[in-house]
Amino acid sequence: MAGLNCGVMVALLGVLLLGAARLARGGETYEIALPHGSNITVLIKPGVPTLPANVCHIISKGWVTPLSIKAGETVVFSFSCQDPQNHFVIEIQKNIDCMSGPCPFGEVHLQPSTSVLPTLNRTFIWDVKANKNIGLELQFSLPRLRQIRWGESCPDGVTHSISSRVDTTTMVRIGTFCSNGTVSRIKMQEGVKMALDLPWFHNRNVSGFSITNRSSIKRLCIIESVFEDEGSATLMSANYPDGFPEDELMTWQFIIPAHLRAIVSFLQFSVSNCVKKEERVEYCIPGSTTNPEVFKLKDEQPGNIAGNFNLSLQGCDQDAQNPGILRLQFQVLVQHPQNESNKTYVVDLSNERAMSLTIEQRPSKLSRKFVPGCFVCLDSRTCSTNLTLTAGFKHKISFLCDDLTRLWINAEKTISCLDHRYCHRKSYSLQVPWYILQLPVQLHDFSWKLLVPKDSISLALVPAQKLQQHTHKRVCNTSFSYLVASAVPGQDLYFGSFCSGGSIEQIQRKVFSQ
Ligand SMILES: *[C@@H]1O[C@H](CO)[C@@H](O)[C@H](O)[C@H]1NC(C)=O
Ligand SMILES: *[C@@H]1O[C@H](CO)[C@@H](O)[C@H](O)[C@H]1NC(C)=O
Ligand SMILES: *[C@@H]1O[C@H](CO)[C@@H](O)[C@H](O)[C@H]1NC(C)=O
Ligand SMILES: *[C@@H]1O[C@H](CO)[C@@H](O)[C@H](O)[C@H]1NC(C)=O
Ligand SMILES: *[C@@H]1O[C@H](CO)[C@@H](O)[C@H](O)[C@H]1NC(C)=O
Ligand SMILES: *[C@@H]1O[C@H](CO)[C@@H](O)[C@H](O)[C@H]1NC(C)=O
Ligand SMILES: *[C@@H]1O[C@H](CO)[C@@H](O)[C@H](O)[C@H]1NC(C)=O
Ligand SMILES: *[C@@H]1O[C@H](CO)[C@@H](O)[C@H](O)[C@H]1NC(C)=O
Ligand SMILES: *[C@@H]1O[C@H](CO)[C@@H](O)[C@H](O)[C@H]1NC(C)=O
Ligand SMILES: *[C@@H]1O[C@H](CO)[C@@H](O)[C@H](O)[C@H]1NC(C)=O
Repeated sequence: MAGLNCGVMVALLGVLLLGAARLARGGETYEIALPHGSNITVLIKPGVPTLPANVCHIISKGWVTPLSIKAGETVVFSFSCQDPQNHFVIEIQKNIDCMSGPCPFGEVHLQPSTSVLPTLNRTFIWDVKANKNIGLELQFSLPRLRQIRWGESCPDGVTHSISSRVDTTTMVRIGTFCSNGTVSRIKMQEGVKMALDLPWFHNRNVSGFSITNRSSIKRLCIIESVFEDEGSATLMSANYPDGFPEDELMTWQFIIPAHLRAIVSFLQFSVSNCVKKEERVEYCIPGSTTNPEVFKLKDEQPGNIAGNFNLSLQGCDQDAQNPGILRLQFQVLVQHPQNESNKTYVVDLSNERAMSLTIEQRPSKLSRKFVPGCFVCLDSRTCSTNLTLTAGFKHKISFLCDDLTRLWINAEKTISCLDHRYCHRKSYSLQVPWYILQLPVQLHDFSWKLLVPKDSISLALVPAQKLQQHTHKRVCNTSFSYLVASAVPGQDLYFGSFCSGGSIEQIQRKVFSQ
């Protein structure tokens, strides 16, 4: 089977080489037919840098340079030289008008097919016009895109240039992208112009993206990046390195595996002179109590972010005389947690029956200060701010938290003895299990709930150390204390709080009801 596949590969390669050989001989005739109403135009023009004009010509009923083909036309042509790819480029533009009718949404095809086009550097351009309140989403199948600076080039020569229409006359450059990165979706509004550059030696024959209509996104654009594993992405504000459009909003969304953490750093930025509003970035971070987290560009940006998050850049009303430039280039680095807090702890509850153990955030005062996420993760995969472990199973947990004092543990264990003949004089040792003591998190509360038959049995609690009762006169100042209360629903009886350091050797209590 593998051998067969290999044979097919070789055959395809053979065809490609043959195509190139045919081209080298020159004089080949091409026919491009553009259907009526296809809204496609084709332009074959001298490339950059232009070579001396008389070296190569396009021949179609005489010399025609540039050669322009409109929808509804069929043109037959050839080149006067053997290496037209060194002299000419081809530009194929398709206008998609969603204002006058429904849009042909879905997977975008290369039209006309690359097999009928001469082997020149190709630029496919899709110009989509939609209503002001229509969101347009470009979705890139694998590979995802990597943003580069305006004017930089991609290693394989395949470049995506994406612009957005903000009104009928103005285009904003959203970005230029290569074929290997994290950007999976770009949402814009009103209109999109997407140019795909394919160099003549590249045999790609699919566009690699689809277009979908969405409801209004209420901003310039949203760029989504997906990380499958550790990695980084460098991203830029629209029009970078030129100024971000005045009073606009742009959002980046990041999809990050739960067991990794993200750090945002601003590589380069400048701010404009605002007359109204303030330029800022806003983060929506899981687990934060003060979302959105608002920062100035010059602030230190958040790190140790666990989970999916988004970042928005908000411009301002600029001073007309001296606007300045708002621009931002930043990096998102995604990696394993960098310190021993990524240790895995085994909490073995497989021998427990009536037990519940919750690791949760201790209550804290709301503050405007940024608080990085603090999570407990089960099997290093699903992380949450509040994790309850169930009895009967063995759990592997880890912590995604920069400050473990923000968490605490509450546990409750129920001991029932419901047959009074059997329970009589039976003793239970109440001990905080080792699997809790090993955790790097404070134990806040461990309750033993003792269920025994009512009216027939009394309970004696015999402490290992002598106890004192907490009173106003004798305050318990120890690191832990015991609280004795009734566990009967609706019966709110409290028998006191005790700590070590007194003379009490036993606490006895009659059970009134079960
Ligand atoms: C071409 O554009 C016209 C008007 O702009 C539109 O009605 C028509 O559906 C378009 N054709 C295609 C194939 O997109
Ligand atoms: C075609 O593209 C390649 C690389 O993308 C570039 O080096 C070359 O100059 C281009 N050719 C023309 C005629 O523009
Ligand atoms: C993607 O591009 C980067 C930067 O040019 C390069 O280091 C990396 O090897 C590329 N990865 C793949 C899979 O092509
Ligand atoms: C693209 O090329 C591959 C082989 O290289 C072929 O299987 C596929 O059908 C082509 N797709 C289109 C849309 O021409
Ligand atoms: C997308 O367009 C179709 C057809 O025009 C329409 O039925 C649908 O509601 C649109 N979807 C959104 C999210 O606007
Ligand atoms: C940003 O994230 C928040 C919280 O996850 C979400 O409610 C909001 O819709 C997101 N906004 C954008 C534009 O992605
Ligand atoms: C913990 O972090 C260190 C440092 O990044 C890494 O080398 C190690 O593989 C991580 N351990 C786990 C279990 O993820
Ligand atoms: C955590 O979950 C438990 C059980 O669902 C609940 O009783 C507790 O109030 C939660 N704690 C927080 C801080 O949300
Ligand atoms: C581990 O986390 C602590 C607490 O945030 C931090 O102070 C320390 O620098 C971290 N260690 C490493 C190696 O990153
Ligand atoms: C606790 O109180 C006792 C007296 O009641 C005192 O001797 C002891 O130093 C106190 N311990 C602490 C840690 O404050």
